[in-house]
Amino acid sequence: MNSPIKQRKMNPSDGDNTLIQDMFSQQDFLNLGQQILQLLAEYLDNNLSSPVIGYQSASDLTIKFTDPLPIQARLKISEFPEVLQQQVLANALNIHHPRNFGHQVATPLPIAALCDLVAAFTNQAMAIYETGPSATMIERQVIHWLCQLVDTETWAQGDGLLTSGGAQANLTALLAARQAYSLAQGKNYWDSGLNAQAPCFILTSEHCHYSVARAAGIMGLGTQAVIKIPCDNNGRMQLDALESQLNRYAGKVMAIVANAGCTPSGSIDALTEIGGLAQQHQVWLHIDGAHGASMLFSDKLRDKLQGIAVADSVVWDGHKLGYLPATVSAVLFKRGADSMLAFAQQASYLFDEENPDKAYDQSQRTLECTKRMMGLKWWAAFNLYGTQSLGKLVEHVFDTAQQMAGKIQQREDFELLMSPQTNIVVFRYLPYPQQAHIRKALVHSGQFHLTQVDWHGEIYLRATIMNPFTDMQDVDALLDAVKLAAEKLRLA
Ligand SMILES: Cc1ncc(COP(=O)(O)O)c(C=O)c1O
Repeated sequence: MNSPIKQRKMNPSDGDNTLIQDMFSQQDFLNLGQQILQLLAEYLDNNLSSPVIGYQSASDLTIKFTDPLPIQARLKISEFPEVLQQQVLANALNIHHPRNFGHQVATPLPIAALCDLVAAFTNQAMAIYETGPSATMIERQVIHWLCQLVDTETWAQGDGLLTSGGAQANLTALLAARQAYSLAQGKNYWDSGLNAQAPCFILTSEHCHYSVARAAGIMGLGTQAVIKIPCDNNGRMQLDALESQLNRYAGKVMAIVANAGCTPSGSIDALTEIGGLAQQHQVWLHIDGAHGASMLFSDKLRDKLQGIAVADSVVWDGHKLGYLPATVSAVLFKRGADSMLAFAQQASYLFDEENPDKAYDQSQRTLECTKRMMGLKWWAAFNLYGTQSLGKLVEHVFDTAQQMAGKIQQREDFELLMSPQTNIVVFRYLPYPQQAHIRKALVHSGQFHLTQVDWHGEIYLRATIMNPFTDMQDVDALLDAVKLAAEKLRLA
């Protein structure tokens, strides 16, 4: 194989040159690459005999990671696959395991993971157009496709960016909302900061993700500027409570944040009605669809998000129900120009004010300067499978969640918190109140991963169905294991 690196031989009489040449060895790359792919492909066997998590306490696992700093190579390339298996994979959470009921983390499409390898290898810095021309175009195409999925008409001029995660995505959208609010007040908070800032507030669901309050802290509003609106029994913001806070803080609300799939229970706020209130009060509406926006892939599910197009900004995580490896989140703005509101910077070494293509410099829109080529995996998934197939994945796990809810209701000793609106099922085992202890026992056993949530002071178990291969056998096994663990704890 002809590679520029091979052709450009260094003088072998100098030991350093041989060393450098070895570090870029094409042969090592190919050999090791094949072995690593083989190792990872085994994960797709869904082998139930392997644990979901080879759980060890952090102090026990530390022992495996206390080697002295390797000044010189400690391992041969040929030894690396074994070490990868023993030290890394064996102690990882097996996200492809059908009994992983844990967080809202995608079971990534294998091909999308390969795209991440391409992104890492080609290392397109992407701060400006010329540091990643195709990467920039791919990202912009993905953003326009996502805007089209929100609404072909009202979002036709939409724009945005990809960020490393939903938390940063929420921050970016809220920075834009605050800047829009400040410009409307004849001020410029970005330039003058706290000195120009009159108190302003964010109204959001009591079940919003913590990144909303964190964004308020980062923006200097203070976390107390986030006014939590109480929700109904299905986890949806109470509209009369929202309206009364809009009246109370009239003129001082910089944004409403509604959930399209809240983190604790997957509940979807009444987007149409909230959109109406936002328009009536002339307040920016941000919809946190980090978890649930992928419902827009499915003709069957997209009605659950009716009203989403009224939003001024939407966040959509590819690494949740988009089935992509972390991290990739989209921040979408209905009015394309708003995508430039969050940040404004001059840097002569990077940005060229005269450049007619400066709208293609993605770092004008995002906190990150160097950023990964995150769009490739999304672009590839769209091209290789189409949005319809991605929608099937979402429909499938939603169906599984419904069936799981039915199973819970059939068992007298279990309680279902609410009928799942997405793929998150919240429940508890009634005869033994310490749900947190049950969860711990299951996770430590390595058989299952699941989470817990505090719902108005009561702890519930929380199962998120992400893996399309999770079936009713796995669900039955989980519910049986919950019962068994609780009985064991009771007798201990
Ligand atoms: C509704 C919602 N918003 C935002 C986030 C934060 O996203 P990320 O973990 O990608 O930063 C999450 C994460 O679970 C979420 O559920």
